[in-house]
This record gives sequence, C-alpha cells and structure tokens, in this order.
Amino acid sequence: MMLKNAKLYGQEGTWNIEVLNGKIEKINHSSNTSEGNYDHQIIDLEGKLVLPPFVEPHIHLDYVLTAGTPRWNQSGTLFEGIQCWSERKLVVKETKEDIKNRALKALEMQLKHGIQHVRTHVDITDPSLMGLKALLEVKEEVKSWMDLQLVAFPQEGIYAYPKGDELLEEALIMGADVVGAIPHYEMTREDGVQSVKKALELAYKYGKMVDVHCDEIDDEQSRFLEVVAAEAYKLGIGELVTASHTTAMGSYNDAYTYKLFKLLKQSKINFVALPKANLHLQGRFDSYPNRRGITRVKELLESNINVCFGLDSIMDPWYPLGDGNLMRVVEVGLHACHMTGYNDIVTALNLITTNGAKTLNMQAEYGIKEGNKANFIVLDTNSEYEAIRCQPAVLYSIRNGEIIVETKPAETKMNIPVFS
Ligand code: FE2
Repeated sequence: MMLKNAKLYGQEGTWNIEVLNGKIEKINHSSNTSEGNYDHQIIDLEGKLVLPPFVEPHIHLDYVLTAGTPRWNQSGTLFEGIQCWSERKLVVKETKEDIKNRALKALEMQLKHGIQHVRTHVDITDPSLMGLKALLEVKEEVKSWMDLQLVAFPQEGIYAYPKGDELLEEALIMGADVVGAIPHYEMTREDGVQSVKKALELAYKYGKMVDVHCDEIDDEQSRFLEVVAAEAYKLGIGELVTASHTTAMGSYNDAYTYKLFKLLKQSKINFVALPKANLHLQGRFDSYPNRRGITRVKELLESNINVCFGLDSIMDPWYPLGDGNLMRVVEVGLHACHMTGYNDIVTALNLITTNGAKTLNMQAEYGIKEGNKANFIVLDTNSEYEAIRCQPAVLYSIRNGEIIVETKPAETKMNIPVFS
C-alpha cells in the first residue's frame, strides 16, 4: 500500500507513506517521485490529515449499554450511579456472553471513530469475577483490530467491599494488566490512603501498571492525588501510574495546588481527564455558581505533565449518552477547560493520540514512523484546526497495512441561489 499526498499531523507539506508487510517502509516528501517499495494498492489522499490511531484511555466496557436497567440515574450523581449499578447486579442476572456482547458493540463504535487502543476498567467487586473473565476473552478475540488493556477496578472499594483486596489480587493473577482503586469511595480517609498504598504495592509486586479513580468528587478536601503521586514517586514507578478524573483539583485552592504541582512533576504520573462524563456528574451538589468539576488540564499541560482525554462511559448508570467518539470529547473538553486559544486547538489531538499512548505506556511502538506498524487513521480534512472545528469523519482506519474501516462522508446538496 502507498498513501500518497498525506498531510501528517503536526507537520507541514504532504507526504507519501509506503507500507510493506504491514509496516511503514518509508515516508517521503510528496515532491520526491521515487519509484518506492510498497504493496500494490495506492490511495491518493489529496492532502487529507493522517494521524496515528486514537487512544481511548478510560472506558468501562463491562458497564456499556446498561443505562436504565433496573432504573435510570435521576440525580446524575456518581453516587446514585454506583447505587444503580449495585441494584442492577442484584436483579439482572447477566451471563458472560451478555457482557461480551455489550463490550463488543461498544468496541465496534470506538473502532468506527478511529480508536485502535483502549484501556477499560472492569469491576472486580464481584466474587465470581465474571466481568473480568468476559473481558479477558474479548481482549483475545479483538486483538487483530483493537488493543485492549484491562484495569482490575474495585468499583465498590478495596476495603469498603468484603474481601475487596483479595479479589483485586486474584484479578491481577488472572491477567488484568493494570491495578485500580477508588480511594474517595472508601469509608474513611485512612481506608482511602491505605487503598492507594495497597494498589501500588500490588502493582510493584506483580509488575503491573496503576490507574486510580482519584478524587472524583467536588470535595476540596479530597486529596488522595497527593498520596498516589507520593507513593509512585517513592517506588519510582510514576510513568506507569495514572490518576483518572481528579476532579477535586478543580476545587483546590491555588496555594495547595502550587505545592501539589511540584510533587506531580517529580512523580511523573499521568492524568486522564474525562470532560463529558465529569461535566455531567460533577457540580450536582452546587447551587450557583455551579462548578465545572474538571481537573486543571491546561495548567497540567503547561507544567509538562502528561494529560489525555477519555470518554468513560457509553450509556451506563454514570452517563446516559456517548457513542465512542473521542473527537467530540476533545471539542467539549477544550471548551470546558478554557483551551480555545489557537495553539490549544491545533495541538488538541495530542490529547487522544500521543498523550493517551504515553498513559498506556505504549509510546515506544506508537506513531507514524518508518519501521513502526502501519497503523493510522485518515480524517476528512486538510488541517488540524479544521479537524477540531468541523469534526470530520474518519475516512480510513488502517491496521498492519490493511484498511479495516472505511467511511464515506455525507454529501449535502444545497438548492439555493449562489452568491458569487
Ligand atoms: Fe471511570
């Protein structure tokens, strides 16, 4: 395959990408008319934007497409969401196949929108660990078109749920890639601190990554992020550790945040912000002014701390909407985080590409570089700016040199007088 006249994300001019045996053989400037060495298929992209595949760093595939059963979350709070999920476990007796089918439907939605790498949390506060068993099978079944990382996620707490710590360890032994925690949901501050320490200890013991649902609350006193960062720093595993949500940081005072940022930089931990989910969930206990409930994305990025964006949910008790499209998350997130300066806009796709890859610790094999796997997507636009403004379709998703998704953009015919 050769992709001719590609506009590479973040670069000027147009380029020819030669693909051979599923890998990127060569990248030449389009003006270079050499014969090249590639498989027979040639696609002239006419300057369309080419990027590495989108990365979804935070979704709950075991929850997708469950909103409304047994009841809808009417308050929109995180806590009613957790309550709805607990009630669902009591009345809806799903089989492993049911969970797999829902997850596969969601993965297809994500693939359609240009995603090829997903980190999913899986609730392991269930003595049968059925969700994890289902997702371990899904991971294997989809690997030709989607890379999946599984987080062993103790939704109801490591210590607030009976034998939560034992289930977490069992999930890691079964094959989960990442250790989860939810300290702000534990019964006490002390249990929350202990849960973070336990998660990092287990990660260190089993050679896993860590991704903590951290301070997903509007309480300015919720300060488990400092514990995550400090423990990661002490163990020297910060680059393998992620703090997801951290919405309380949107309520921290600036003096404390100034001190906190020094530790965050030292620790090298990653952040996942989930703008759509948290605009929906947070601020629910506020009157007016009503807080946005989003972490300090702009300030973290300005401090060279890695931040990426995720969706979190597709129709589940915590968020009733969502279709797997990360471009929409970026658009909403830029607004919510006051990141609508020109430079913010033209680099915004970093939030769902390279920054996500770094969070998933897969940056070594990620990106459009000679020798890498021929994995990329093509957007129906000629510039980074227009990609954000117009939300174009993903024309192609290419994996190992094969087109695995192809979308024909909609056509509009206007029957009005032309002013020219
Ligand atoms: Fe989440």
